[in-house]
Amino acid sequence: MVEGFARRDGMVPTHVAIIMDGNGRWAKARGLPRTAGHRKGVEAVRRTVKAARELGIGYLTLFSFSSENWARPDGEVSDLMQLLRFYLRSEIADLHKSGVRLRVIGDRSRLAPDIIKLIDNAEAVTGGNTNLTLVVALSYGARQELVLAARRLAEQVAAGQLEPREIDESALAACLHTADIPDPDLLIRTSGEQRLSNFLLWQSAYAELVFLDTLWPDFSKRDLEDAIKEFHRRERRYGASVGTV
Ligand code: IPE
Ligand code: IPE
Ligand code: MG
Repeated sequence: MVEGFARRDGMVPTHVAIIMDGNGRWAKARGLPRTAGHRKGVEAVRRTVKAARELGIGYLTLFSFSSENWARPDGEVSDLMQLLRFYLRSEIADLHKSGVRLRVIGDRSRLAPDIIKLIDNAEAVTGGNTNLTLVVALSYGARQELVLAARRLAEQVAAGQLEPREIDESALAACLHTADIPDPDLLIRTSGEQRLSNFLLWQSAYAELVFLDTLWPDFSKRDLEDAIKEFHRRERRYGASVGTV
């Protein structure tokens, strides 16, 4: 069984990040409105968080809503925000009970005040949990995150707290939303698209990328296990040659 096997051999990737794509196509294939696909997508989120816990994954990052997704039709954006409210209200107690710590990364200022409150509360309630860190990327864009980091560094330099020559990789990484989160080892995108769509550009420099045809609402524990198996078939080199001529 993958579960015991993976745990015993310390083979589970520490951080799995997922671009949850394909809700709209799932709905369209059934003649349903896109919202129906998003609703099914929430069920897949629940399954995946449970599976990640069972597999002993340390960090699971889910790309839920990108900075660019604000440009979708108003109706779809408000349906997605309503689903987010529903998820935050209905899941926090269960997440907390199962020892999950919730973290939200992205530009909160664009979210409605009541959603910001729900997020703040969820992070406070679950902040001490240690089983799994669930990172939800919401109103998130990697380029925007990097611009913000550059601005923070410039502010520190202008205030005389930092010398330009002190700006290195760790100084920049410390200014990202993910400052205290390890880089993803495995990045999965569902729905057959093979692009990053502005997700964790800095952090994924050496992530193994796995693209699956499965549409997000159909994503199962089996898909996650298969992606982890594929991850183990890869040889991570980080630019160094390992026994190759
Ligand atoms: C992913 O599914 C969910 C979000 C981006 C919010 P999509 O809504 O992008 O579904 P497709 O890609 O149109 O099928
Ligand atoms: C990426 O999916 C964002 C999320 C999954 C939240 P999109 O569906 O928005 O990406 P594109 O438009 O296909 O690049
Ligand atoms: Mg999409």
